[in-house]
Amino acid sequence: MTVGTAGFDFIDLDPVQETFLDAALDGLSRPLKRIPCRFLYDARGSELFERICELPEYYPTRTELGILGAHAREMAALIGPDCELVEFGSGASRKVRLLLDALERPRGYVAIDISRDHLRAAAASIARDYPALRVTAVAADYMQPLPLPRAEGPRVGFFPGSTIGNLGHGEARRFLAHWARELAGGGMLVGVDLKKDESVLNAAYNDAAGVTAEFNLNLLARMNRELGADFDLDGFRHHAFYCHDRGRIEIYMESLRAQEASLGGRRFRFAEGELVHTENSHKFTIEEFRTLAAGAGFRPAAVWTDPARLFSVHYLAA
Ligand code: AVI
Repeated sequence: MTVGTAGFDFIDLDPVQETFLDAALDGLSRPLKRIPCRFLYDARGSELFERICELPEYYPTRTELGILGAHAREMAALIGPDCELVEFGSGASRKVRLLLDALERPRGYVAIDISRDHLRAAAASIARDYPALRVTAVAADYMQPLPLPRAEGPRVGFFPGSTIGNLGHGEARRFLAHWARELAGGGMLVGVDLKKDESVLNAAYNDAAGVTAEFNLNLLARMNRELGADFDLDGFRHHAFYCHDRGRIEIYMESLRAQEASLGGRRFRFAEGELVHTENSHKFTIEEFRTLAAGAGFRPAAVWTDPARLFSVHYLAA
């Protein structure tokens, strides 16, 4: 369904969202307990994530903004005139603005997000500030194969923030393979966090102000708030570390003592030291990411990094 609203088109593909209760019951029933990382982003979690992006230890956001600011013209030259930009997850409108400002006669901007509220706000603010641009908001889960309306020219995807690192390798490959086909004739710009000194990585996910800990443990508070659970919020701690062998930050909530909590009419037991897995954040070398993208059907065309080689932005031709 397409409805013209406040300067943009809205297409609701009615994304099916697994409920938080189903995911929590399933994840806490497993031998290795887990809660999928997409549930970190309720209103409170999104607010905390915004604060993470400003932390001195959390370099990815400002480093990627720096790369986009320094190289947007080169990116725009590779992309070419009259393109339609498709952004996956629309929280990062500061980043897309750097591109839109550099592109020659961008034809349109399509924002895809599972959260209708985020999506409407992002699309409305872009439509207001770029009145000549055709803005379309698509409420959908971009992790599911998704048909976009036919395009009349090149289309380029934009997936910043190293969100691709939060996917497993199989999921990342499937995501890239799908979009390599959908964006044929255009390409995709992807922000990818790089492997580096482990102390820098560990600090980025264990900030001194404790914001990342609060972001992670907000899952317990969220289960209490929304699902009527009775977790003792002081009974768990944030535990995040770089796993060298897997090339990723792993994030857990660790039970500080033997305890029980009830959720959805069931009791769950936690041993002292037991971990509940909440997120992975994969890090890549430039070559590793180019190989992943090439295996998914893209042609890696260019890559930009910052002087300290903390972060990378890749242009993949489709
Ligand atoms: C959204 N994503 C790329 C962040 C990351 O760095 O993996 C999420 C995050 N988790 C803790 N800090 C930041």
